[in-house]
Amino acid sequence: MNKIELKHGIYYVGVVDWNLRNFHGYSIHKGTTYNAYLIIDEKIALIDTVKAPFAKELLARISEIVDPEKIDYVISNHVEMDHSGSIPEVMKAAKNAILVTSAPSGLKGLKAHYGDNYQFKEVKAGESLSLGQRTLTFVATPMLHWPDNMVTYCPEEKILFSNDAFGQHFTSSKHFDDEVDILQVFHDAKGYYANILMPFGSQAKKALSVVEGLDIDMIAPSHGIVWRKYIKQILELYQLYADGATEDIALVIYDTMWHSTQHMAHSIAEGFDRRGTKVLLMGLQETALSDIITEVLTARYLVIGSPTLNNNIMPNVGALLTYLKGLAPKGKKGFAFGSYGWGGQSIGLVNQALEEMGVAIIMEPVKINYIPSDIQLEELESKVAAIK
Ligand code: FEO
Repeated sequence: MNKIELKHGIYYVGVVDWNLRNFHGYSIHKGTTYNAYLIIDEKIALIDTVKAPFAKELLARISEIVDPEKIDYVISNHVEMDHSGSIPEVMKAAKNAILVTSAPSGLKGLKAHYGDNYQFKEVKAGESLSLGQRTLTFVATPMLHWPDNMVTYCPEEKILFSNDAFGQHFTSSKHFDDEVDILQVFHDAKGYYANILMPFGSQAKKALSVVEGLDIDMIAPSHGIVWRKYIKQILELYQLYADGATEDIALVIYDTMWHSTQHMAHSIAEGFDRRGTKVLLMGLQETALSDIITEVLTARYLVIGSPTLNNNIMPNVGALLTYLKGLAPKGKKGFAFGSYGWGGQSIGLVNQALEEMGVAIIMEPVKINYIPSDIQLEELESKVAAIK
């Protein structure tokens, strides 16, 4: 195995999960990575582990550098199983290691997942651990995105081990931002924030204010590439995301039965185009929810259409609205639309869901009976084009 050194004596020992396409319900297109880092000093520290099925690969990577038995500390920045799953195997190999975790939520989480047969060390926000030449300082980032989350900063090396923050579901045999397609990485970082961190904007802002006070020349997250060239850019993007900043972009998202709601969606898209707004038309039968959510993060307009099915909305639209409600997007404007045969309840239900999630309604719900005529479609387009 090729040894990957971040800085002298600090190694990447994570794994690439090339074939993963569903990350607890979040569709990803090219797999992900579970990043772990090994620091060789007077004391040896492993920062985070990997998902359980990859424990052997992690230990093999470590063994290329040092006998795992010599590890003194295993730092668990976050209990979620993609990072903690290999703790039992690692602790079996690193017989004398102390498991370092945040107080109190990290300890509670680790015990709930793996029992209490380990030597634990609980650390509080701002606490430090000396490895000899280097120090590890722990920065609490609660609810970014679990209560236990923390990040680990090494001031002597100016590296922030940021766990999920600044991560991306991006895979490559390369591990640094200046070695890969950076536009793809930025897109995947946006998708990651949108699908995992969007509800936690205020916590992200607090974490960013702490990070801004640190002297950093490398951010080593637990998914995707390590940031060393584009640190300023990813911090700026996170600030915009945490602020809920939007661009003049409209998402027209719909499901359709016999194309009537689809025709309405196209007219609405034409209307936004006429008013100079960038528009993305997204059919729910063709587009993964996670890809839609990536665009929701920075879009200003959220327009959702459903025909009426059994006096209700289409199941795909229900799934979208449920996902959106949990992610609680901020600063959106929008309206509901759809065709119907008789009851026509779907359009009102979508409108109600938009209102409940805090979307500012900018147009009365648009309902068209059966098949929209050319005149109705032109009127709809003009109405959207005239939105102030
Ligand atoms: Fe990558 Fe919250 O685990």
